[in-house]
Amino acid sequence: MAVWNPHSWQGRPAAQQPDYANPSELERCLGQLRRLPPLVVPEEVQRLRTLLAEASAGKRFLLQGGDCAEQFKDCNAEAIADKLRVLLQMSVVLTHSGRRPVVRVGRIAGQYAKPRSSTTEKVRAGGRELDLPVYRGDLVNSLEATQKGRKADPERLVQAYFHASATLNHIRALIEGGFADLHHPERWELNQTSTKPYQAVLEEVRESLEFLEALGGVERGTLERIDFFTSHEALLLPFEEALTRWVPNDEGEGQASGGARQGLSSLAHGGGYYNLGAHMLWVGERTRDLEGAHLEYLRGIKNPIGVKLGPTATPSDLNELLQLLDPTHAPGRITLITRFGAGLIREHLPALIHAVKRTGHTVLWSCDPMHGNTVKTGGGLKTRHFESVLSELRQAFEIHSAEGSQLGGVHFELTGEAVTECMGGNVGVSESDLPRAYETGCDPRLNGAQSLEMAFLIAGMLRN
Ligand code: PEP
Ligand code: CO
Repeated sequence: MAVWNPHSWQGRPAAQQPDYANPSELERCLGQLRRLPPLVVPEEVQRLRTLLAEASAGKRFLLQGGDCAEQFKDCNAEAIADKLRVLLQMSVVLTHSGRRPVVRVGRIAGQYAKPRSSTTEKVRAGGRELDLPVYRGDLVNSLEATQKGRKADPERLVQAYFHASATLNHIRALIEGGFADLHHPERWELNQTSTKPYQAVLEEVRESLEFLEALGGVERGTLERIDFFTSHEALLLPFEEALTRWVPNDEGEGQASGGARQGLSSLAHGGGYYNLGAHMLWVGERTRDLEGAHLEYLRGIKNPIGVKLGPTATPSDLNELLQLLDPTHAPGRITLITRFGAGLIREHLPALIHAVKRTGHTVLWSCDPMHGNTVKTGGGLKTRHFESVLSELRQAFEIHSAEGSQLGGVHFELTGEAVTECMGGNVGVSESDLPRAYETGCDPRLNGAQSLEMAFLIAGMLRN
């Protein structure tokens, strides 16, 4: 196989990349990114790999979630705390009622680029129909429906770095300041989610804590801080390349074949190239071409990699993909995130499980019950039915268990805010409710109440 380096992907066809009108401006912005400090450190990335390896052995459960498209305007204290809150609430329900410690990974602090099914879209403005370039996420252009707004702007790469950095800084500060402390779950109350079952879980958690502490069995410190990791789709490759850093191993050994060296050798980790813009990266359903640039980039970095698999994924593709991304068969390296849709999962998942078994790779299986269940309403809004989401999840649990495999995680598009983007659930969002608080920049998300309800239902499936 040809030699890998952080820019070897440039020799491959790269899908879903925007056209930048001014290459020297792009290069100036990438140069700036290369000089900025990393957002995460290799030790954290390795810790997540270890936790994901434990999840693939059935000892933990992965909860990955956040916006479909994070927007710069949502980089504010309330929106960040709301997202952290809903993920913490879900994880306490999964850990307590599902009896499995949870690995929390946000689609956050960098989820700014979106793959799109067409390059242009028709937009009605001032009584006229305009043909505009599509919105590709705040990393690339603006949601604003004008020619100017939709122009790919390289300055956004730098803005994305600073928004991701501010978001992550706030998350770290909240956690360090005791926001996640299990003794104070009231700090994660979302107005709309104070349901009776949730209050009952909290009460039981509180009693168990008091009991354990009375026995001297838990150290307070371990309950006051939690692990929280970041992830995004590795879509815009120049951006990902600029955040890729060479890290010597613990003994300071290892040779860089190019790229920036980082002085981080005092931390415990293996040497190599890391994407230090996020802990985990995933490759999307539209860009996992075996010959393409995205897999070429991802095969060389040390981060844990998620791979989205939809109805077009074949067993033989999956076999090759695992060989390419995980040649040393390292547990924790690969999370396979299936997203078939409630109507197609039974047809497709079993063959992929068999294929992985034949290869002998240890993977973590996760279910994204969102992306295969998107429908359009008569009014033209993209939505998802709570029931379809739940149905795909239930089937995923059943199929894995019938095949002697294990579903070890879930992947959601969600927010803590009281949006009305997905239909159904106990809060009863109906089609006519959708326009009331439809705020997503791309796909519909579960709101805080729907997310917490989902966590209870998943916890039930985990117990069984
Ligand atoms: C996404 O996760 O937002 C996404 C676009 O998913 P997929 O690649 O599975 O379609
Ligand atoms: Co999406």
